[in-house]
Amino acid sequence: MESDSAVKSTFWYDKFEKESCRNWDIFYHKNQQNFFNDRNYLDKEFPELLRPATTPPEVFCEFGCGVGNALFPLLEKTSLSLVGFDFSKRAIECIEKDPKYLANQSRMSVSVADLVLDPIPTYPVSPHLGSLIFVLCAIAPEHHVPVMTKIYEHLQP
Ligand SMILES: C[S@@+](CC[C@H](N)C(=O)[O-])C[C@H]1O[C@@H](n2cnc3c(N)ncnc32)[C@H](O)[C@@H]1O
Repeated sequence: MESDSAVKSTFWYDKFEKESCRNWDIFYHKNQQNFFNDRNYLDKEFPELLRPATTPPEVFCEFGCGVGNALFPLLEKTSLSLVGFDFSKRAIECIEKDPKYLANQSRMSVSVADLVLDPIPTYPVSPHLGSLIFVLCAIAPEHHVPVMTKIYEHLQP
């Protein structure tokens, strides 16, 4: 028979898992774009992001993009076409209201989707490059391999 503490921890595990999307929505409702720092280091860590522009431009996807702390610096520093999605509707609404997004809709597009439950949104051109910044740590470990497989299959070779 399962011990009391095992039953309790299964209860909390299932509860956090079930309410994860709602909890992130609450988080972004409270914090909007004021919590995470912009990831201004991405082009330094990954110089391939600064490859010369191509026609059509290469597509970069941030899987679990939150309020755009990775996407917005890439908008300024690179010539990539940027797409992203997050399961928090509030996070995506924050991006959609941002003047930088509104001024660059030909280069940037975001949507709401759950990496675990939904198919990855399709774009006119499949992403060549992608990142998951501080996202896997927000997803239960048993979903990591299926999520990474889904992403691998979605990216261009
Ligand atoms: C720590 S934040 C990082 C956000 C962004 N990548 C950044 O660098 O600022 C983790 C993000 O993962 C998103 N997330 C967690 N689980 C997700 C899932 N199953 N599908 C899509 N997004 C998810 C959350 O809504 C949140 O925006």
